Amino acid sequence: MKFFIDTANLDQIKEAEDLGVLDGVTTNPSLMAKEGITGRENILKHYVDICNIVDGPVSAEVISTDFEGMVREGEELAKLHENIVVKVPMIRDGIKAIKYFSGKGIKTNCTLVFSAGQALLAAKAGASMVSPFIGRLDDISTDGLELIMKIRDIYDNYGFETEILAASVRHTMHIINCAEIGADIMTGPLSSLRIIKAPSYRFWISYFLSRLC
Ligand code: G3P
Repeated sequence: MKFFIDTANLDQIKEAEDLGVLDGVTTNPSLMAKEGITGRENILKHYVDICNIVDGPVSAEVISTDFEGMVREGEELAKLHENIVVKVPMIRDGIKAIKYFSGKGIKTNCTLVFSAGQALLAAKAGASMVSPFIGRLDDISTDGLELIMKIRDIYDNYGFETEILAASVRHTMHIINCAEIGADIMTGPLSSLRIIKAPSYRFWISYFLSRLC
């Protein structure tokens, strides 16, 4: 399973990259705003800065919600760097835009997916990745992991190559569960990637003491 980090914070991206297990980055307009990155030119430059840190797919989200606007923004984003994946929302015009981008060889990440039907539609349109929001589903007492399982079955039944990117991952157990049920990629905050932390010296002292007793 590939590990993506979901942030626009360059220090956090560098820390995850230093771990040696980072495969890509996802961002969105609110994560950009959280870092104080505003204005078209600054946002575009920030995407390039991210691409210069991590050698893997970097999802850059369109803000428009109409077909023409999404195509205009997506083409501009795709030109920034070869690793840019255009993130398109799961709405009617988004599906049309994904189909358009797929015909042009531009990679897409269909975001805001909350049902198996939406994931099927995105794959039919040629999305490179589909992002079911498992944490947000959990928030409303709906099993996010069950959705991943359903999408896995559907994609395997028909040989869709669209990658399942488990998004809105909140903690380590989400990552383990996603790996067990066959998500291709997970994206979450840096805290969720810190699972690789080495045990502390306190752990080793108590371990050796317990062996002596
Ligand atoms: O990638 C989706 C993400 O940004 C939403 O995450 O934790 O706010 O639901 P969260």
